[in-house]
Amino acid sequence: MKRDTRITHTGRSSPYFSGSVNPPVYRASTVTFPTMAAMADAQGDYLNAFYYGRIGTPTTMAFEEAVAAAEGGERCIAVPSGLAAIVGTLTALAKPGDHVLVSDSVYGPTRTFCQDILAKSGVTVEYFHPLAGDTIASLFKPNTRLVFCETPGSLTFEMQDIPAIAEVAHAHGALVAADNTWASPIFFRPFEKGVDVSIQAATKYIVGHSDAMLGTITCNAELYEKIKSNVVKYGYSVGSEEAYLGLRGLRTLPVRMKQHQENALAVARWLQTRPEVAKVLHPALPDDPGYPVFERDFLGASGLFGLILQAYPEEAMVAMIDSLKLFSLGFSWGGFESLIMYTTPGIVRTTTLWNADGPTLRLHVGLEDPDDLIADLAAGFEILDAFGY
Ligand SMILES: Cc1ncc(COP(=O)(O)O)c(C=O)c1O
Repeated sequence: MKRDTRITHTGRSSPYFSGSVNPPVYRASTVTFPTMAAMADAQGDYLNAFYYGRIGTPTTMAFEEAVAAAEGGERCIAVPSGLAAIVGTLTALAKPGDHVLVSDSVYGPTRTFCQDILAKSGVTVEYFHPLAGDTIASLFKPNTRLVFCETPGSLTFEMQDIPAIAEVAHAHGALVAADNTWASPIFFRPFEKGVDVSIQAATKYIVGHSDAMLGTITCNAELYEKIKSNVVKYGYSVGSEEAYLGLRGLRTLPVRMKQHQENALAVARWLQTRPEVAKVLHPALPDDPGYPVFERDFLGASGLFGLILQAYPEEAMVAMIDSLKLFSLGFSWGGFESLIMYTTPGIVRTTTLWNADGPTLRLHVGLEDPDDLIADLAAGFEILDAFGY
């Protein structure tokens, strides 16, 4: 079966569902057993069985099965947020005394967790240049266990050469985890490119409607045991309502992603023609430095990209953003609606500098008509023009 067919059909065959197309929302904490023996059997298979609500329900399991199929992995672990997926993976695969390499363009809270918790627990965290490719080899130590990638970085949109990084990591006996939220399972096939653990902030495109927090960790069966047992120890638990929303979102992910891509490219190409814009940060544009890697490894681009304005004063940028009618100000992305954010303050670097003379912004282009979005931005740019730079 091809991927879109798998996304439509996987996770629907449980006998619990009585033939309904969508799973019921199992509101379960306690699960009861008819006999002591049945209880012991379930507990013996404690990473897979429906035996206590915190570990999983038929609804969360249906969601996991469908995400694993969409990502092209063997097993999936649903967790309460994208950050929980990152934390659950890092803490399962890096132990005190280990060395971990993390992309310098990584999502802010991933960096914060690495610094405030992981490093303090005795794991050495080192940041690598997002464009390192196979030159990352020089950073490996005998105790390097994990490389954590995010491609492209969700603020600066630098592309990482995952196949090259994975080849080096595997040659050194290390694993590769990647935050695959930007591309979603639709536009990047992590396991075909050398990734061992693929992370989704399902809150974004998988849920797709800005109404639930959810994360997923997808991997092979062996890593599943290791990571799921770790996640269980942390007490992470996913509500069935959230898993239901994730599964419902996943069913329409392929069509939504195609539209996000088309709309975002229309807006990005228009921005490239505008004198107010110094640079558009979108790896699917042929003049973007990440384009060769994007074209080789990705099947498409999502609706999230960045831009650097000319060196306008901050008050001009603020007035422009405040004037927009269709782009709302909001953290997160991946829903059907368009969003804008001023990202300069969030761009934190350790090994590389981020040079931009003007403010850096991030757009999430939603499912509105791109002509209306362009008109909204054009009206906002008139305010910039009035200020000048
Ligand atoms: C790239 C990326 N990864 C992970 C996360 C975390 O997801 P959540 O907010 O569901 O914890 C985000 C959220 O903004 C993100 O942008």
